[in-house]
Amino acid sequence: MDLFVDFNLGLDRPGGRTFSVQRAMSFADLEKVHDPGVSLAVWGRVAQSMIVRYLEDLERERPRYRGFSFKKGAAQSENLEDYLVPMPSTETGGLGRGMLHRELRALVSSFLGVSRARFYHLRFEKTETDACRLFHTDLTAIRLLCTYKGPGTQYLKSEDVLRAGLGGGCNEKIVRPGGSVHSLETGDVALLKGDAYPGEFGNGVVHRSPTIEGLGLVRWVLRIDAPSLDWLD
Ligand SMILES: [Fe+2]
Repeated sequence: MDLFVDFNLGLDRPGGRTFSVQRAMSFADLEKVHDPGVSLAVWGRVAQSMIVRYLEDLERERPRYRGFSFKKGAAQSENLEDYLVPMPSTETGGLGRGMLHRELRALVSSFLGVSRARFYHLRFEKTETDACRLFHTDLTAIRLLCTYKGPGTQYLKSEDVLRAGLGGGCNEKIVRPGGSVHSLETGDVALLKGDAYPGEFGNGVVHRSPTIEGLGLVRWVLRIDAPSLDWLD
């Protein structure tokens, strides 16, 4: 069941396509990211406090640990626990590490179910800088984003994007004057269409990392990419 559908005219898009942000009540609802005209689907959640506590413990006890990434075929998702072994235990213990493992396993499974991708690339990492501070699109078909700690990823609705400014090294040339910058909330699970989504080249969601450098903030972000969706080709 949808909470709301927010349609905005994508006047600068080829063919005048629309950009909609669709809210979901569950991961299964995120399936609607595939609908024509939908570019972003968001399942609003709050990050589990035990997981956040574990990440805080990691920052304090193992400040050099920055997370992990791997690329796998969907058929290998059953062995996910093997790939998570590098996630360290903490002195303070707690249930957060196990909860995070179960969370990642569930999200990978759900992501593969919704995307029907044959391959995926998972990255779970700590960032203390502005990382990708420039608005941009990515050459991926579908991306899952979930920020467990720190501010969420920022994005622009199509009506606020000057696409000719993308890649120009200046956010002021990308955000239409008077346009609004929107943010995913911490804990949200979002599916974004990227430029490699079949039929969507040049229409990927324009996004960037929020500004945290110099503010003493730390982000922990999960990213799962389906680089291609050959079942849709
Ligand atoms: Fe990106």
